[in-house]
Amino acid sequence: MAATIESVLSEKRVFPPSPEFVKQANVSGMAAYQALCDEAERDFEGFWGRLAKEHLHWSKPFNRVLDEANPPFFKWFHDGELNASYNCLDRHLASQPDKTAIIFEADDGKVTKITYKELHREVCRLANALKALGIQRGDRVLIYMPMSIQVVVAMQACARIAATHSVVFGGFSAKSVQERIIDAGAVAVITADGQFRGGREIPLKPVVDEAIGMGGCDAMRKVIVYKRSGSSVPMTAGRDLWWDEAVKGQGDTCDPVWVSAEHPLFILYTSGSTGKPKGVQHSTGGYLLGCILTMKWVFDNKPTDIFWCTADVGWVTGHSYIVYGPLACGTTVVMFEGVPTYPDAGRFWKMIQAHKVNVFYTAPTAIRSLIKAGPEEPKKYDLSSVRILGTVGEPINPEAWMWYHTTVGRERCPIVDTWWQTETGVIMITPLPGAIPTKPGSATLPLPGIMADIVDETGNSVGKGKGGLLVIKRPWPAMLRTIWGDPERYKKTYFPDDFKGKLYLAGDGASIDEDGYFRIVGRIDDVLNVSGHRLGTMEVESALVANSKLVAEAAVVGRPDELTGEAIVAFVVTKGPRPTGEEAKKVAQELRDWVAKEIGAIAKPKDIRFGENLPKTRSGKIMRRLLRSIARGEEITQDVTTLENPAILEQLKQSQ
Ligand code: WTA
Repeated sequence: MAATIESVLSEKRVFPPSPEFVKQANVSGMAAYQALCDEAERDFEGFWGRLAKEHLHWSKPFNRVLDEANPPFFKWFHDGELNASYNCLDRHLASQPDKTAIIFEADDGKVTKITYKELHREVCRLANALKALGIQRGDRVLIYMPMSIQVVVAMQACARIAATHSVVFGGFSAKSVQERIIDAGAVAVITADGQFRGGREIPLKPVVDEAIGMGGCDAMRKVIVYKRSGSSVPMTAGRDLWWDEAVKGQGDTCDPVWVSAEHPLFILYTSGSTGKPKGVQHSTGGYLLGCILTMKWVFDNKPTDIFWCTADVGWVTGHSYIVYGPLACGTTVVMFEGVPTYPDAGRFWKMIQAHKVNVFYTAPTAIRSLIKAGPEEPKKYDLSSVRILGTVGEPINPEAWMWYHTTVGRERCPIVDTWWQTETGVIMITPLPGAIPTKPGSATLPLPGIMADIVDETGNSVGKGKGGLLVIKRPWPAMLRTIWGDPERYKKTYFPDDFKGKLYLAGDGASIDEDGYFRIVGRIDDVLNVSGHRLGTMEVESALVANSKLVAEAAVVGRPDELTGEAIVAFVVTKGPRPTGEEAKKVAQELRDWVAKEIGAIAKPKDIRFGENLPKTRSGKIMRRLLRSIARGEEITQDVTTLENPAILEQLKQSQ
């Protein structure tokens, strides 16, 4: 980590926003940014209270802004009532019913548009259908859908009737779906027959069937299936029904169910440092406020904007910047079913041109893979509509940043490198495009009201020019409220005793430069970031050892990868003799497929190395730092005197 900090601290290039951009920006110039920060410093609750009143529609106004009686279980605006779907749809109906809400482009290029009025009707019809199926306030509904207008309808319909949704990324396996259904106690699943990505159909409903078939989904009663691919899928009588059947005859309006601002809008599972993913629970009022403010501040949202976030709705980025943020702001949002390299590496740029996208938000991994696949591709397209570029999910290396800046942004567009997490709900540290000068590879400064800092192991600020742990010192409205069903884990993970329970520990290492700019280096725990997707090393390890026929022991670490940021490396001790040569290749493939089945294809280890043993201390603890060095092909310079079996290092080094 030290070397990385060194290199990023020496970044000297600075790109201030153009005077024209500053002039038209929602937060115009450094002084305007500073004024907001000062307001939050001066009167923290007054600041958030003012914004919550200005930006949300409340059916019952709140009296109390922040309740800190039982930290870290903070409550925001909790005696106020509202409905997320009302705030996303109904409030635009009088002013802009015929404005396009979503431009959807399918994998094969077919474009479908839906207006705010039409979207409202579809949401109401599905909401009525869910009610007719007996789904009620507080029930959990799992959503396992392709990128589609219907997934937005499904999420909004849940929000409308105060059911809590839990969207599971369409690439997760049956086992992962089953675990999430059980953990959330979901009563229904909304899915599709299949989805298309890169010209291939990927089944979804069969995965749900397999998940429920594994047992334990005791609360599960209904499966609603949207017909996307037309492939034949078996339907279980009494449990499964087609979307079209469910909404048939349902009314076009549905009164929103008003809920407390603290009502759980959704649960989203994410990886942590144990084998079991955590159900990050978000609120309604605070979360929605964060979505709206970041749309306006970070993406400089304007009424005429066409906004495109390329994330999948299965991740938090899709929740906040495809569904809740853009709709609550009444924006036109672009949604894409496919992949960036199909039919060729010009797909993104072609879509920007076709839909006249103004704000484009994607992941460094996508940028890196597009640089590799077609560095000249953007030049073939008219990208003059773009005014802001964004990145999210992982650190962006300065080379990729510069390419994005020159080749895509044509040196005209501010780049917002946004740092945040599933847990933070919305963007936390980022340049404001019309205020904060950018530096390649830096997320720059915290948003107004976000009290971010970098501390050492004792919780003291490290100060400028140093590295340490990224923390947030005060609660913020969009923060997670707990881990579903596991408040203890919430407390222990995010507000550890080491810091007297007072600091939110993000789990990222970061440094702060002489201008006070933040650089996020990467995770400090056993969480990997592969192509911007979070995966726990323990999660992959548990999946491997679950193969009791083949695997005796496994340890998983990360290593840097040019394309995917990090890559997964697994060290495996097999039950039989250690496989070598062709046999090793065969077993490695078998194990990769196994992990894909256990978790999902995103968790497949890139390298698998076989050893007769793993490097352990005399007390039997696996020495992961040694494995990390081996995975990276580095010389082992660490102290190995506590190692029980030093010879194993040579074997593992040569085992590739
Ligand atoms: C990493 C995605 C550097 C970080 C919204 C964080 C980043 C994890 C950035 C959260 C960034 C996200 N620069 N690192 N701009 N954005 N990260 O929960 O390690 O999928 O903790 O949320 O991604 O990933 P998650």
